[in-house]
Amino acid sequence: MIEYKRHLVTAALPYANGPLHVGHLCGAYLPADIYVRFQRLMGKDIILICGSDEHGAAITMRAIKENKTPQEIIDTYHELFVKTFKGIGISFDYYHRTSDPLHHKTSQDFFMNLYNKGEFKEIESEQYYDVKSQQFLADRYIVGTCPKCGNENAYGDQCENCGSSLSPTELINPKSVLSGDAPELRKTKHWYLPLDTYESWLRPWLEQGILDGKEHHDPSSWKNHVLGQCKSWIDGGLQPRAMTRDLDWGVDVPHEIPGSKGKKLYVWLDAPIGYISSTIQWAKENNKDWKSYWQDPESELIHFIGKDNIVFHCIIFPAILKAHGQYNLPSNVPANQFMNLEGNKISTSRNWAVWVHEYLEDLPGMEDSLRYYLIKNMPEQKDSEFTWKTFQEAHNNELVNNLSNFIHRVLSLTHKYYKGKIPDFDPDESFEGVSGDELGGFHDAELIYLFDQIHELNQHLREYDFRSALKSLMDISTAGNQLLQNNEPWKIQKSNPETVEVVMNLSLHYVVALSIAMKPFLPFTSDKLQKMLNLPLLKENGELLDALDKIAEGEFLIAAGHQINEAEYLFSRIDDALIQKQIDKLHKPMEKENTASAEPNPDSKYHPVKETISYDDFAKIDLRTAKILTAEKVAKADKLLKLELDLGFEKRTVVSGIAQHYAPEEIIGKQVIILANLAPRPLKGIESNGMILMAEDAEGKLNFVQADEISKLGSIVK
Ligand code: MF3
Ligand code: ZN
Repeated sequence: MIEYKRHLVTAALPYANGPLHVGHLCGAYLPADIYVRFQRLMGKDIILICGSDEHGAAITMRAIKENKTPQEIIDTYHELFVKTFKGIGISFDYYHRTSDPLHHKTSQDFFMNLYNKGEFKEIESEQYYDVKSQQFLADRYIVGTCPKCGNENAYGDQCENCGSSLSPTELINPKSVLSGDAPELRKTKHWYLPLDTYESWLRPWLEQGILDGKEHHDPSSWKNHVLGQCKSWIDGGLQPRAMTRDLDWGVDVPHEIPGSKGKKLYVWLDAPIGYISSTIQWAKENNKDWKSYWQDPESELIHFIGKDNIVFHCIIFPAILKAHGQYNLPSNVPANQFMNLEGNKISTSRNWAVWVHEYLEDLPGMEDSLRYYLIKNMPEQKDSEFTWKTFQEAHNNELVNNLSNFIHRVLSLTHKYYKGKIPDFDPDESFEGVSGDELGGFHDAELIYLFDQIHELNQHLREYDFRSALKSLMDISTAGNQLLQNNEPWKIQKSNPETVEVVMNLSLHYVVALSIAMKPFLPFTSDKLQKMLNLPLLKENGELLDALDKIAEGEFLIAAGHQINEAEYLFSRIDDALIQKQIDKLHKPMEKENTASAEPNPDSKYHPVKETISYDDFAKIDLRTAKILTAEKVAKADKLLKLELDLGFEKRTVVSGIAQHYAPEEIIGKQVIILANLAPRPLKGIESNGMILMAEDAEGKLNFVQADEISKLGSIVK
């Protein structure tokens, strides 16, 4: 393994367009946090850099949806991110934001550098333009059918169903998200990065870890799914990629460039440069040299991301960095796959998610329980699954029964037998050990087991195998429990206090080692435990390395005679009621959506109000006054009536589900309001062209929404 002098670790800048859910957390932020915390404990020079991604269509689309300005959106979510990350213990060295002027300048300077070097190709192309809203459409503003899998809701840049990356012109039946119209092609000029000409270095770099003829990294340390995605991208043929867009939200293309008016930097150019801006700001505030982290070949660069970001971090951003010439390329991009929730994909728009800020509110003081569960189920190689039941099980069986009970037992016995002072012991005193070694059963031999265990943990982390690392940690606790079980100090304290002394001293060593090694995984619990042990809080400044050195030298981690504080339980059981509450909460919004018009909510006299829509959404609805001309029962359908309606300008057939509320003869001649632009659909073989508006109360009783007799048929209702 290549040894570096410094390490720069980044976690994907989250789009400031919605709250963070557990999938985000275990995708990029938790693994980055654990990795960095551990390396800090090992005395490494390492920083964790992140910030909010505040440009791009992700932001402006959200603004349109919520009827707010993009600035309001990013301010809201940036603030929420800062609070949430802190609440769940993500230890960024710096958390910046891409709307900051420093970032605008950094990314513009970067662009200028490439421009002056002649790296860009200026290409005029035809791009989709929305005539009604008078603008070019960003890829995300165009939806259509995916040419690869047939998904009808593919975006202009990507199909979220099959994962293919697309260009808008590949979409079948493209439509503008803004107006709903089919967009037209118009000419526009942009600056492109000629990715096609980079294949000659990208391929050997990714496949063999060789850059400029030298070994750069070990490609076998990269995850298979990451390399697989990169390879299929390259095999598919790299294309020049536009680094600018026609937009009004984003970083301006530097004004000194002719033709820059109205053009913005492509968000996937500006956002990863956000890692650089964030590092610059960190360096400013901490009197450090940012360049050494980015540009010194003895510095390592690692990007933690989710799988939807792979090509941007393994191909496009490296290409940008390489084109500049002075920057390091990543030595690894340990991307995670996705986490599903209770059998379904996590979905922000359907509110199918466990939101981290809500978790922190609903389950205060339980930050580490969530961290533990997410690490245990981290989607490292394949998608994984969050369920509240397995969350409860992991917490109760592992954190409570194993970890918390072991530690509490040791600390309370220390109080009982030695008034809270670490006992001294006779090193020749033997006992029933757990190391399995033939020499086991002596204090020093058992300490070596601890040493090996922590090294194993370290090794797993360096391989980005967080699940196994967590297991190594918990194995220490399991072994500690075993040690107590093997020797049963509570049975022999009277008859054999010497054996109890050595067993208790060793157990306390286990607890101290755990308190340090758990810090990256369970930082809040580590702090609590350090306090109980009456030890200073960890500064993440080489403490684990010190502990390992001490063990190797045969020194103690905690001195005999050291006084500890009162023993408390670190975790207590989660009962079914708490879990049920979370499950209910999860299912509520889904039910609301699916059954709003079908099933009345038994708990309420009123249906809940649906999600807010914009005026534009409302304006799409075409309501008209109409008169019922004829009505008859539909054969073999006891709920349906077939109606003929007069809209003034036309007559049409509508099938309506009101047969159990009204007899056909009593409604003929009624003036009603109908939804006139609903897509036609067949009902029992009859094509229904629209829908009559009915008022439904919570008991499910229906009443017509009647139009005033004097309104002319076909009038618009608004
Ligand atoms: N905002 C992007 C997302 O949430 C990630 C950006 S990562 C960066 O998918 F490299 F561009 F910063
Ligand atoms: Zn597709």
